[in-house]
Order: sequence, then structure tokens, then C-alpha cells
Amino acid sequence: LCRGFATSSHLRSAINNVTVIGGGLMGSGIAQVSAQIGNNVTLVDVTDEALQKSKSNIQTSVQRVSKKLYKDNPAEGEKFVSNTLGKLNFSLSLPDSVKDADLVVEAIVENINVKHKLFSEIDSVAPSKTIFASNTSSLSIQDIASVTSRKDRFIGLHFFNPVPVMKLLEIIRTAETSDETYNKAVEWGKAAGKVTITCKDTPGFVVNRLLVPFMGEAFKMLERGDATARDIDTAMKLGAGHPMGPFELADYVGHDTTYFILKGWSEKYPDVPQFQPTKTLKKLVDDGKLGVKTGEGIYSYK
Ligand code: CAA
Ligand code: NAD
Repeated sequence: LCRGFATSSHLRSAINNVTVIGGGLMGSGIAQVSAQIGNNVTLVDVTDEALQKSKSNIQTSVQRVSKKLYKDNPAEGEKFVSNTLGKLNFSLSLPDSVKDADLVVEAIVENINVKHKLFSEIDSVAPSKTIFASNTSSLSIQDIASVTSRKDRFIGLHFFNPVPVMKLLEIIRTAETSDETYNKAVEWGKAAGKVTITCKDTPGFVVNRLLVPFMGEAFKMLERGDATARDIDTAMKLGAGHPMGPFELADYVGHDTTYFILKGWSEKYPDVPQFQPTKTLKKLVDDGKLGVKTGEGIYSYK
């Protein structure tokens, strides 16, 4: 079938019904890759408007994936698009959406209180077989899982933006995650075409523990006036081979997300200077200039 996706029924058997909660940047991508491998996917958000936006983003993105995978066979490509879209359901009802789930992946706002409220709400309605996962960028998986009665069936599944393109999936085990949960998560991640790595439940896991301080250093460099944003970006692309410079990347990730990450870490670990959000980052958030998603950040996308 399609390159990169495992198709063995064994790999598909453990997890068939997937519920993704939060249909923003990440949730829509996670729902898409799950539907692409034939899972029955339900995407949940809080407003009809948000669901419509997710739907339209997924449609555009699946077309791009299809164009790439089936460039020599457009008819198969069309089938891939309609099969994928046919696997997706959109819902505003949280309790209904988790009733038959094998796996729930949470991708809502990066706020521990909101995540706790969500998981305690679904813990009482989801069947005992259901594995819960969070796509958090920076919060402790054990802390998120603490409000549930299924700590052995709770895991971190950290995807990267754009989910349909980025190959990595970080899998985060807590001390209480069972081997069975972990193995099912690895199998599912591989079936979805991702390369998995395993990390302990530490701040930022692997990628963000390195990438977020890197973006922070770029902001400090800009504040010192060492170089312009454009030149810093050009330098890191041409001198270090990065696909995006630190400001292009920060605009792409969303400044609110990066700010929430740093604010949380700096409160928990006040002695780590790399975790302090810079003035420029805070101002961008205060001004609503969140990056690509709002049309303006360090750069303009209007
Ligand atoms: N859906 C589907 N396909 C997409 C896509 C999307 N949303 N975005 C890009 N693509 C595809 C394009 O169709 C294109 O395919 P072809 O090769 O067939 O043409 C390919 O990806 C490349 O896209 P573009 O030509 O538009 O642009 P590009 O070459 O600059 O690549 C990029 C775009 C893949 C985003 C690349 O710039 C990149 O890798 N940037 C770095 C992204 C990154 O570091 N992400 C991690 C952020 S950190 C994070 O996610 C963790 C966190 O918790 C904050
Ligand atoms: P986003 O703002 O694009 O999307 C969040 C979505 O969740 C919105 O559509 C919102 O309406 C919805 N939502 C909020 N509360 C909800 C609730 N109670 N029930 C259902 N839906 C709800 O955010 P995002 O960038 O997709 O990030 C989501 C999560 O993924 C965060 O934990 C973030 O840290 C993490 N993450 C982000 C990135 C990134 O690059 N942006 C990468 C990896 C992980």
C-alpha cells in the first residue's frame, strides 16, 4: 500500500478506535495519521467552528500527502483521500466519543488544570480497556495521569508539527505505565509510519528540552541586537542545516505554546536560566501575535 505505513493486521489489531481530543494544529494532524492507517477516528473539540476548521485543514493536508505518496497513480491517490476522510468522525460530545475507544489522545491547551478536568471527566465514562495518552509538550505525564484511576494505562505520545510530515513520535513512560500499554503504543506509532523513541517523564522529553532553550537563546540574541531575526534564521539554515531558522520555527510552533511551556518550567525550576521566558516572547503573546496561526508573529503571514 503506501510507503511508511505498516499494514499488517497484527499491528492494526490492538488499537482500532481512536479518539483525539482537541482539533487544533496537533489534534487534527494526529487524527489524520490515525485515519490514514484505517483506524476509526473521532475528533472532539468544543465548538462547531473549531471542528469545521479541523476538517478543512485535514482535507488540505491529506491531499498533500496523497499527492506525494501516489504521484504516479492519481486514481489510487483519490481512493486514499476518500478512505482517510471516511474514517473520520467529528464530535462535540466528550462522553459519547470515548465510549468505544481503544486509545484516547489528548491534544488540548497546554494547561494542567484544563487537562486534569478533561481526564477526570473521561476516566469515569471510558471503558477499562481504553488507553489514555497526552500529547503535552512540557507537562509531566505522571502529573496529568494523577487524576485518573488507570495510571498503568496512561502514556505520553508526543508528536511533532506538522504531524503528517514529521517522522518522530516520542513515547513517554511513567513509573506506572504497564509494559502492555507501552508495547501497544509503540506498535500503533510504528503502524502510523512514525519512528518511535522512548524517554523518561522529564521536562520537554528529548526534543523540547533541547529545542525550546535553543529558541529562547535566539530571542535573547535578538534582544541584545546581535543580528536581525532574518539573519539569525538564515544563519541557522545555511550554517547548521536546519530546515527552519529559530524564529520561523517559533512562529510555526505558536508563541503561546512556547510561552506556556517556559512559564510552567520557570515556575517549577526557577534556578534554570534557560527556562525563563524572554520579554519579546511575552510581548508577542500579549499582543496576540502568536505566529503563523494568527497571521503574525516575528514575521507577517498576511
Ligand atoms: N500536511 C501534509 N503535508 C505537508 C504539510 C502538512 N501540514 N506541510 C508540509 N507538507 C509537505 C509538503 O506537501 C511537501 O511535500 P513534497 O516534498 O511532496 O513537496 C513537504 O511536506 C515539504 O513542504 P514544503 O515544500 O511546503 O516546505 P518545506 O520544504 O519548507 O517543509 C517543513 C516544511 C516540513 C515544515 C520543514 O520546514 C520543517 O521540517 N520544518 C521544521 C519543523 C519542526 O522542527 N517541527 C517540530 C516543531 S517542535 C514540535 O512540534 C514539538 C512541540 O511540542 C512544540
Ligand atoms: P491549538 O491551540 O492549535 O489547539 C487546541 C485545540 O483544543 C483547540 O481547537 C481548542 O478549541 C481545543 N480544546 C481546548 N480545550 C478543549 C477541551 N476541553 N475539549 C476539547 N477540545 C478542547 O494547540 P496545539 O498546538 O494543537 O497544541 C495542543 C497540545 O499539543 C498542547 O498540549 C501542546 O503543548 C501540544 N503540542 C504542540 C505542538 C506545537 O508545535 N504546536 C507540538 C507538539 C505538542
